[in-house]
Amino acid sequence: MKLFKTLPGIILLAFLIACGGDKSADKTTEKPANPGGLTDFEMENGIGPIKEKMQMGEIDAEAAKKGEATFTVKCALCHKLDERFIGPSQRYTADRRTPEYILNMILNPDEMTKSHPTGQKMLAEYKTPMTNMNLTVDEAKEVLEYLRLIAKEGHEKNIPAVPIYQNEQ
Ligand code: HEC
Repeated sequence: MKLFKTLPGIILLAFLIACGGDKSADKTTEKPANPGGLTDFEMENGIGPIKEKMQMGEIDAEAAKKGEATFTVKCALCHKLDERFIGPSQRYTADRRTPEYILNMILNPDEMTKSHPTGQKMLAEYKTPMTNMNLTVDEAKEVLEYLRLIAKEGHEKNIPAVPIYQNEQ
């Protein structure tokens, strides 16, 4: 009777809720240990001047263009898009990390590699500490738009991701 009609519905609903729950973890493929006692916010979004979640809209093409120019001058010394170099390839950074994490890494790399478990792991992997290039917050946000743009382009053109850790896929 009624039960037989609703039961499959309930099961389906439970299934959808369970699957939906996983989505929130999309940005952090790694779940590092937290021996430093960082806040949940810091674990997900890094340590630095960005202390609150930001509202992210569509990619701002004009800002991305300025970000690309900054990237060429200040970041390409150590980063390529689709190859490992002094630092990790940048094609899919925007998929791998939250926007706030990326800004904090750009603006505060010393503390990030010293005190954040993911930053520590990256430093252990790349051996060279990332230099603070003294970008303003606005310049860093423009670079972030550029990183979002190249990730989007990468997906559109099926550009393969380069593993960021040598011994991991
Ligand atoms: C002196 C070389 C150097 C320069 C210059 C440099 N980086 Fe880095 N970057 C690194 C290294 C090496 C790492 C890995 C962490 C470490 O070893 O400090 C890194 C890590 C990062 C990460 C973290 C990636 C991840 O997946 O966690 C981001 C984002 C990043 N760099 C962006 C930038 C941007 C944007 C610039 C320019 C403003 C820049 N870097 C300039 C060497 C550099």
